[in-house]
Amino acid sequence: MNIKKIGVLTSGGDAPGMNAAIRAVVRTAIFNNIETVGIMRGYNGLINGDIKNLTLRDVSDIIHRGGTTLFTARCLEFKTEEGLNKVVKNCKDYNIDALVVIGGDGTFRGARDLSARGITCVGIPATIDNDIGCSDYTIGFDTALNTAMEMIDKLRDTAQSHDRCTVVEVMGRRAGYIALETGIACGATFIIVPEIPDIDIDNNIIKKIKEIQKTGKKHFIIVVGEGYKKTNELAEYVQAQTNLETRVAVLGHVQRGGSPSVKDRVTATHMGNYAVNLLINKTSQVNQTQNKSYVVIVKNGEVTSIPIEDAFNKQKEFDYNLYNIASQVSL
Ligand code: F6P
Repeated sequence: MNIKKIGVLTSGGDAPGMNAAIRAVVRTAIFNNIETVGIMRGYNGLINGDIKNLTLRDVSDIIHRGGTTLFTARCLEFKTEEGLNKVVKNCKDYNIDALVVIGGDGTFRGARDLSARGITCVGIPATIDNDIGCSDYTIGFDTALNTAMEMIDKLRDTAQSHDRCTVVEVMGRRAGYIALETGIACGATFIIVPEIPDIDIDNNIIKKIKEIQKTGKKHFIIVVGEGYKKTNELAEYVQAQTNLETRVAVLGHVQRGGSPSVKDRVTATHMGNYAVNLLINKTSQVNQTQNKSYVVIVKNGEVTSIPIEDAFNKQKEFDYNLYNIASQVSL
């Protein structure tokens, strides 16, 4: 089959760099004489027919913008048989030959279900959490890290001035990658991640704070991944056990916004371009196998792809080595 029209959507939580990916998809498609349509608010747009043509100029001046110009949503109706059938029907009615879906795990599960119903999809991983097992990197992670780092640097100024302990909660859902990397980059004294839920607070934190205090240090930063779920209790316990005045700062959604970093713009552009070329090459093969839907991934520094069915087999491994390095240098 020759692809004539591609639909592109963003779904799930927004991530800086999504716009750069949309731009790359649209421009690569047009370069190859393929039409593109933008589907608004994730899979919702495919259910409601909220779909618009995208020209070269529609994606001008968006590479530097955070958020997503196609808007995004988590769509419950799409998870039902009825919702899926509406999507399949609308793809046919709008002559959409294939979809590029930009988002996280949930977005790819949707694409896999559509693929099983005959709609060819290519997924592009974009989430600040960097928690997609099959890809070393997800668009938005680097920008979120830099945003969180800037904010924690500011919190350090005030913690230092008051001889306080600041407990900073960062996003990441069930994954601790944002906590680990921002914690290292900001010189946090302790990093708490959901991957190590049973950490012994008395031995690893309270005892260590008291030892470090003896060396003259009077302020402390503790970075906590939100998936640990006990940020406030931890702060109260630290204050009670150490007499350090302690404050909690939850960075929240600010980590999802902002102009994407160079890394996110370049990776998004590469992945968007790769996704369209993959569609062109794979769908033109005569003996096309059942595995016609894919996820674009980064593996060992290379942009490549895997069949969508294989995208869910692997849980991302936490980098315990980096975690150990962090604890050796936080003194
Ligand atoms: O997946 C991205 C993310 O920002 C997570 O880090 C966070 O747990 C979640 O989304 C927040 O979701 P919502 O925007 O729906 O509150």
